[in-house]
Amino acid sequence: MQPEILRKTRTEQAELDFVAGLMRFNSTGLGKAMTSHYERHSAALQRGRPSIPAVAEVMEPSLPYRFGAFMERHNHWRIFRTSLRILGRRREAVRRWLDDANAAGSVGSLRLDPAVGVPPYYKKLEIHTQPGNYHGEFGGILYHWMISPFFVNRDDRDEMGWALARGVPRRPYGRILDLGCGVGKSTLPYCEMYPDAEVVGLDYAAEMLKYAHKLAEHRQKRVHYVQGMAEKTGLPDASFDLIVAIFLFHEMPRKARDQTVREAYRLLRPGGVFAIMESPPFNVLLDQYSPLSAFLLDSTGRRMDDPYIPEFFGEDRVEMFKRGGFATARDVPLPNELTGWGTGESYFFGAYPWWMTIGEKEG
Ligand SMILES: C[S@@+](CC[C@H](N)C(=O)[O-])C[C@H]1O[C@@H](n2cnc3c(N)ncnc32)[C@H](O)[C@@H]1O
Repeated sequence: MQPEILRKTRTEQAELDFVAGLMRFNSTGLGKAMTSHYERHSAALQRGRPSIPAVAEVMEPSLPYRFGAFMERHNHWRIFRTSLRILGRRREAVRRWLDDANAAGSVGSLRLDPAVGVPPYYKKLEIHTQPGNYHGEFGGILYHWMISPFFVNRDDRDEMGWALARGVPRRPYGRILDLGCGVGKSTLPYCEMYPDAEVVGLDYAAEMLKYAHKLAEHRQKRVHYVQGMAEKTGLPDASFDLIVAIFLFHEMPRKARDQTVREAYRLLRPGGVFAIMESPPFNVLLDQYSPLSAFLLDSTGRRMDDPYIPEFFGEDRVEMFKRGGFATARDVPLPNELTGWGTGESYFFGAYPWWMTIGEKEG
């Protein structure tokens, strides 16, 4: 349910529904067509383990892939432009609403710090082609209105956030931190699962946090949102029992990823848990799930201004945790209905489990 101020007229809703329909067609229609093209031509790849360049040779000339790749970029462009047009009609009111934080009676809070700035590796980037990136005007609303149809509405109840919340060991966590919390979709499940815990969401982008705060208050969930860099949060040593991050690491270069793991290690109390969730790495997709998914993830990074994807998905995440101080860490596949894993539904990138990497600080 959206806050009243974001209610659209019927025409505006129809405009958004049109793009949502294109996105659904890309996932469930062209996604299936790409899979069937790949399966028909994959005999050529059967000798040994298929590589991403070998899958590219099969897919790049095909009509479903070429059309799907074009549509992916086009649909993002269209949904952001449509959203900005709709928001532009009520710009002043939405601006006032977003800027009015910590109102009397708030259950949670928002703490902004303009000194945080923008990560240097985002200065010339518009991830997923989002105008102004996460920190551009209305960044949070733009992201929310894009991600819902992009995930074919299968994440509308924060299913991805719930997958990780259910995947981490159930313990009496007192303080929980979500790094790169965005609009709070990965944060809110902890308020329900651990009602006595203090839940903190951290993001560098004020525009994501302002909207996250409004959504949390709208749903009466007590979250304390803080503006900060995941690599250097400024939060005290040993102040959290559980730290999580969903879809943050694939959007960072290696140096920032290593710094963030070290920072999580510093912030954890002895015995504390750090868990991240992403799609599986390339070698796992190639060996155990779908070479086509590996190719599509690699190519989307190049196509959709998500430049750290190819490098991140080649990374050994357990080694990354160990470099950051965790003596032991492990990868754990988690149920993933969002991509259709286990349900037979199709999805643009194919179906696979979520991939949690988890480490504990020695107690
Ligand atoms: C793909 S979104 C995921 C948001 C959220 N975790 C979710 O699952 O819906 C990535 C988020 O990480 C934030 N982010 C990226 N780099 C960051 C950094 N260095 N420090 C803090 N936040 C960062 C972005 O602003 C964005 O909100």
